[in-house]
Amino acid sequence: MNPLLARLHPYPFERLRELTRDITPSARYKPIGLGIGEPRHPTPALILQAICANLAGLSKYPATAGEPALRKAIVDWVQSRYGVALDPASEVLPVNGSREALFALAQTVIDPSRTGACVVCPNPFYQIYEGAALLAGANIAFVNSDPARNFAADWNSITPSVWAQTQLLYVCSPGNPTGAVMPLQEWQRLFELSDRYGFVIASDECYSEIYFGDVPPLGSLQAARQLGRPGFRNLVALTSLSKRSNVPGMRSGFVAGDAVLLKQFLLYRTYHGSAMSPTIQQASIAAWGDELHVIENRAKYRAKFERVTPLLASVLTVALPDAGFYLWAQVPGGDDLAFARDLLAQYNVTLLPGRLLARAAHGANPGAGRVRLALVAELDECVEAAQRIVSFLKSH
Ligand SMILES: Cc1ncc(COP(=O)(O)O)c(C=O)c1O
Repeated sequence: MNPLLARLHPYPFERLRELTRDITPSARYKPIGLGIGEPRHPTPALILQAICANLAGLSKYPATAGEPALRKAIVDWVQSRYGVALDPASEVLPVNGSREALFALAQTVIDPSRTGACVVCPNPFYQIYEGAALLAGANIAFVNSDPARNFAADWNSITPSVWAQTQLLYVCSPGNPTGAVMPLQEWQRLFELSDRYGFVIASDECYSEIYFGDVPPLGSLQAARQLGRPGFRNLVALTSLSKRSNVPGMRSGFVAGDAVLLKQFLLYRTYHGSAMSPTIQQASIAAWGDELHVIENRAKYRAKFERVTPLLASVLTVALPDAGFYLWAQVPGGDDLAFARDLLAQYNVTLLPGRLLARAAHGANPGAGRVRLALVAELDECVEAAQRIVSFLKSH
């Protein structure tokens, strides 16, 4: 067996199941799940229709690079969303959801034979970053988020000697679970560090289309352009249809940026066998070409956050995030594990204890004392969950 497999940690939902195994949730309430961040709004009809109209694609082997029409649809979307022109032939690749691409990228980029191969990772974080780094044979340096600065990452906590060994940096903006969007100055700082130390930046932007202000979240490629950088050296952005278009089961996204890196990534993917089904490619073209369903989707999330945030803010320390579909709340008393267990037992609401999404680093687990609530259910259910949390906390 590959000995690196033994370095993997149990997934947070596995740990949550373990944590709540002995609990019998109150039968007085129907279950409401705010634990898993899986989009639950209906898939738009235009995507379903595109799948049905293109079933003939199942009889063909797809090319890993994707069909030119899909690459063009992606490039057109990037142009209209970020005002960034990309070369469809070399600066974009379709991927089967951003998860597999985030993982595969580390396998492509990391040279484990270099001493102290290191991946820098936000903390709390999307768990794939850690597994990808470990299976690539790298060590991980965590950067804690700072609640006093809108959960910005504390890049100063990484020493020059660690940056010197860093081969890959994962950035998540909008963040999961914090919802924080990274501003331009922070991108400037990261680009300077990447130029100085030569590491790759993988920018996970899969929540970019769910936001609450008037200005859409800044993308990494857009930041590079705004800062007058000539190309995208050592930078790739990863985007997904899962959240934007409510198709987590379709497995469709893309990677865009550094053409030199993407050439190697394509080589890796050809052997790994990560080509996207022609049927899904056609449905993806339909999805990237339509913004109406994205606007409607965003409006549904906005309505939920508008109702739920003030309710919860009356009993918890919580604020409307910049973007994403999570609330990242601080629990009274600071015991997120007990909070999750007791809420499930008494009110049949599942949420994720924050410490399961983070690791202890720099003397603290930045998820401890917090819980993540995924507002993925329909409005009424989310409001009911919030009301139950209010009752739960008022009765304590
Ligand atoms: C931060 C983050 N990145 C990436 C993903 C993966 O999304 P997908 O593989 O559906 O594109 C998720 C899914 O929950 C996520 O939360």
